[in-house]
Order: sequence, then structure tokens, then C-alpha cells
Amino acid sequence: MGKKILVTAALPYANGPLHLGHMIEYIEADIFVRFLRLKKENVIYCCADDTHGTPIEINAKQHSMSPDEFVNMWYKKHLHDFKAFGISFDSYYSTNSKENKEYVELFFNTLKNKGYIYKKSVEQLYCEKCKRFLPDRYVRGTCPKCGAKDQYGDVCELCGATYKPTDLLDMRCAVCKHKPAIKHSEHYFFKLSAFEDKLREWLIRNKHIQEDIKSYVLEWINSGLEDWCISRDKPYFGFKIPGEDSKYFYVWMDAPIGYIASTANYCKGRGCSVDDYWKAEDSEIIHFIGKDIAYFHFLFWPAMLMGTGFNLPKNIIVHGFLTIDGAKLSKSRGTLVTVEEYLKFLNPELLRYYYSSYLSPSVRDIDLNSEEFKEKINNELVSNIANFIYRVLSFINNNFGSKIFDIMPNGDDKNVMSKIRTLIKEAEKSYSTCNLKNVVRCINEIAATGNKYFQENEPWKIVKSDTKRCATVLAIAANIVKNLVILLKPIMPNFSAQIESQLRLKQLSWSDLNFGLKNHKIAKPKIILKKIEKLAFSDPFMKLELKIGKIREVFDHPDANKLYVLRVDIGGEIRNIVAGLKQNYGKRDLLGKHIVVLTNLKHANIRGVKSEGMVLAAGNEKDWGVLLAKGKAGEAVYVEGIAPRPAREITIKEFSKLELVSKNGKVFYKGFPLRTAKGFVIADKNIDGRVR
Ligand code: 2FM
Ligand code: ZN
Repeated sequence: MGKKILVTAALPYANGPLHLGHMIEYIEADIFVRFLRLKKENVIYCCADDTHGTPIEINAKQHSMSPDEFVNMWYKKHLHDFKAFGISFDSYYSTNSKENKEYVELFFNTLKNKGYIYKKSVEQLYCEKCKRFLPDRYVRGTCPKCGAKDQYGDVCELCGATYKPTDLLDMRCAVCKHKPAIKHSEHYFFKLSAFEDKLREWLIRNKHIQEDIKSYVLEWINSGLEDWCISRDKPYFGFKIPGEDSKYFYVWMDAPIGYIASTANYCKGRGCSVDDYWKAEDSEIIHFIGKDIAYFHFLFWPAMLMGTGFNLPKNIIVHGFLTIDGAKLSKSRGTLVTVEEYLKFLNPELLRYYYSSYLSPSVRDIDLNSEEFKEKINNELVSNIANFIYRVLSFINNNFGSKIFDIMPNGDDKNVMSKIRTLIKEAEKSYSTCNLKNVVRCINEIAATGNKYFQENEPWKIVKSDTKRCATVLAIAANIVKNLVILLKPIMPNFSAQIESQLRLKQLSWSDLNFGLKNHKIAKPKIILKKIEKLAFSDPFMKLELKIGKIREVFDHPDANKLYVLRVDIGGEIRNIVAGLKQNYGKRDLLGKHIVVLTNLKHANIRGVKSEGMVLAAGNEKDWGVLLAKGKAGEAVYVEGIAPRPAREITIKEFSKLELVSKNGKVFYKGFPLRTAKGFVIADKNIDGRVR
């Protein structure tokens, strides 16, 4: 079978939606794996949902779900998001699986028998009201250093101080606000301290691990490792510890073992086994992780593997965090874009390209910057790469009956070809070290070389006078196109597949990187990517939640003669909305209309009637008409290029600051039309003016 490679990405918690920060890692690892597959390496990509722990147990309860139902719901959502982003897992499993339970018990028993696990009594905070021990994150109080209120039990978000939860001034249970007490409990500990020397040796010997990571992990080891508590008391969602009836394995004990469970899931019915990947000599394990979980992956996990006789990872590739337009991702500050939100307004492969252009073996953070995104997509991907491809293929289509002929290169041609071969070699090396930034640079240089070659040889001038020479120029250009497509495959699989079919070539692989394509007929080319006109990852407009509403009923307001009370279906939910439309429409005119509703406007009481949103209308002081939208009730109304990131609630003052205008029957924000998936929003009555 040859060398086997197992690639993993960190297991996301089954506790919420995936966001663009998560995607850095899944995309990076996916590109690496697709590259290895192109090279016909024997590689598998395994991952799983991380399903256990206190937050999941508490959140499930708050959603009136059992933890099992809750994690199953997230599992389905995660799978959907990964698929949309082209993440090509060979196995996507769950830590809440029987294989994981088996392996966790195997690890526990083995480590215990070897004397690496012992029991000890510890003091912990306990909430009498919730009847639970409180993890640090579930204790809140005033920061002992700076006095900031309502801080976590481990770190102050304001001044960055770290402390013990008992150091907080006026500590409280985060769930019920009751004051917790100190209580004793017996816990299991893993003797991490026993592995100091072995871990140090492994790190120093390893030639792959990023140098900056290596040095700070070595610092951790040199300052002495503390043993690690691997048990939790009930209530907990997780696996019970054998021989105990109210103690569970800590989620971080069973999470990395999930890599093994996912491998087991892959091997089912495929004639291979976990040991082929985790014990055999001809296998390599490569983990991709974010810098926040380095401690677990460079210390606890290798020590657990050492203590049980499983293989150690060959490499652990660490990346930095994501910022969006310079801001840290934070749900509460509204700077977090979920995968689902992104998918509503942009092609996922553009993000794959953008991330690649920044990923290198460095733990530096990546900024998702609207301007840079636009520039990279427009100037590199569209103008340089995609335009070159289209230009060459349409020339062949228009002038050579779609045929690529043989290459009879002159000296200059040979120089160009050798320059491209050199760049291909460099791209290959960069792919194998996950220096995707440099891969993208090489791809752009190849496309630029191709563009220059095409421009300088002016095939349009010689197509009649020197058809033979012209055919060579086009054949060389077509081979450059083919090589570009292969190099782009790991980064943009869908785009590349479309170009492959325009080339009428199937499943090109790494060995097709050459100038050997000749006497071949291609298909009719099509433009696949277009420039982005407008893009904002942060703009006040994104706070709006605009939906198509269908007017179901219309009543007179009991206490105001210019107002109606509408009952509007916004997709599985009926809202009561007070609207000033009585002087503009008869009741029957409004019934059944598909209109635009601002659904996250702060609810108001308008002369004694509750209003749960606003119906948008456009016009002047004298007359106005509602905005009409095509599509089903509940579907999104948006501006192309602005990521929707609705605030929980917006005020009428915030809304009226946004320049929304109607002109010639359409509605614009900063010059860009409002639309639904089915077409532009229309201003009924066609009156130019403001939207309100
Ligand atoms: O930090 C996290 O999101 C964890 N769920 C990652 C687990 S990775 C592995 F160790 F399981
Ligand atoms: Zn409590």
C-alpha cells in the first residue's frame, strides 16, 4: 500500500454554527490533502464533531433539548457548511460514538495500569442552587486587578489579567447568579510531569514543527509541567469513567481520541484498520490546529500517545486567528460572520483563494479585509488568472476550430516554458510545506507570464499570415492554462473542474503538469468568475434583517386614522405591524402583496397597538408606495456584496441614518440595488425619494 498519511483538523464543538474563523483551518488542511491526492499519495482527511462538556450540556438544556438531540442538530449543520465550502473529509465522525468510547477506555486503562493516572482530592467551586461544580468560565465577578464588572473566572477581558475564580471580587454562578461555595471532590489526574524529558526530546528531534511554536512549547516544558485533571463530576455530558457512577472523562481527554475514532469510522468496510494509521511504521499523522489549542496538542496529546504506544504526529501545523476588517471576531460585538451568512452573498471558493494568499507556516493572524479581498479577487483571480484562461480558450475556439495543435517552440518559447517549469517546481515545494501564500504567488506569476507571452506574440496579427506559428503560440498558451488549472485544483476545486470540462480533460493530476497537451479538441469556453463590484464585511447596512413578507390581513388601527394594522407572514411566523399606508392603499390592494419587512426593528407600541417590525415604503411627502420583492415569505432581501450580519435589534434612529433611496422604480443603498435571490426589489408606484 505504500506510505499512508492521515491528516486531521481540530474537532469543532457541536455547540454552535461554524464561522469564517473556523474555516481557515478546514480550508488549509483541505488544500493540503487535495494536493497530496493530486500527487496520488495515499492520504485520508479525518475529523469529527467535539460533542462533550459542560457548555454543551447547559446549552442543550437552555434549548429544551437532550444533549444527544442538540449535538445531532449541530452535526447536520456542520456537515452542510463543510460541504458548501468543498471540505473533502474522508471521514467526518463524532466523539459521541461507540468507537470513541472504546478508545477512551483503552487509553484510560492502559495509562492507569502503567501508573500514569492517580486520584487526588481537589477543592472546587460548587453552586448549591444549580447542584454543580463550576468550571472557570461559569464563574463571573469583578476583576481583582482592574475592577471591571462581570468578568470570567479565569481571565479579565478588559485588562487581560489572569487569576483563579476564587480571586474574583463578589464571585457568582454564571447561570443562576448564586454565590458558589468551596467543596471537595476526588479526581483523576494524568501524570503529565512524568513525560517532560520524552516530550522535550521529541520536540527537539522533530524537524517539521514550526520553529516559533517549538520554542514556546519548550519554554512550557522547561518551566515544569503540572499533572492534568481528566475527570469531571456530574451533571456532565460525556463518557462515564469505568468503575465510577458520577464521574465523567473531561472533554479534552476524549476529544483528541476522536481523531482515532474518526479513523476507525473511515476504515469500516474498507479493509484497513486504525493500527495501519496509528501504530504502523509506514504511516504519517499530521494535525492542523489553531494556536489557542497548542498546549493540548503539543503536551497532553503526545504524552497520552507515548504512554499508550500509539504513533506520535509527524507534524502539527498551527495557524493564527482571523480578524475581520481588523476586528477580533466576537458574537456580542457583531463582528462574527457565520458560514451560513457568508454563503448568502459570496462564492466560497473566493474565500479559499483569499485565505490561501495569506497562509504560510507562520502563526500570524489573518485579516479578512473587504478592500484587500476585492482587490485580490478582481486583480489577481479575475483579471490575471481567469481572464488569461478565457482569452486563450476563446481564441482557440474562434480561430482554430477549438483545436490545440502541436508545439514547435523557438528559443523564446523555450525560455517561457522553462520559466514556468521552475515556477511549478516552486509551487510544489510550497504546497508540501503549506506555504500556500507562495503557491498563490507562483500561480499568479505563471498567469502573468502567460498573459505577457500572449500579448507579445500578438496571435491575432498572425493568425492568417502565419497560421503555423500562431498555432504554436496557442498550444503553448493552452498548456499554460492546463498547468494553471492543475495548480489551482486544491485551492479552487469547483472552478478548476469547470475549466477542466472547458478543456475537455478529465481529472488532471500532478503528473499532467507539462507541455504535452496537443492535437486535442476543447469545448466552448464560458466566463466563470466576474469582478466583485461592492464588498463590505463591515457596513452599518449589514445590521438590518430584511425579509420578504406576505400581507395576510389588514385592519384599521383602532385609534389612528392614517394607520393600518397588518398581519404579515415572514416565513413561518406572523408579525403584527403598524403601517402608515391608509392614505395610499385600500385594504384589498395590500392583501397578498410580497413586501419588504425590517424584522429586527425594536418592537414598539404605536398608539396602543404592538408593532413588531416595519414595512418599507418609498416616496415623498405626498405619496409613497410599498417595496415589492419576488420570492417566498421569509427569504432574505439584501444588497449584493454586503454580508448580512443582523443585530439582535436595531432602533429607528439607526435605520433612518442609512441612505436608502428609490429611483426609477428600484431601490438603492449607496448606489447598489436591493434584491432577493429572484430579482431586484421594486418601489411600487415608482416615486423617486427616500425609503422609510
Ligand atoms: O477548541 C476546540 O474547538 C476543540 N473542540 C478542539 C478539539 S481538537 C481535538 F483535540 F479534538
Ligand atoms: Zn448556579
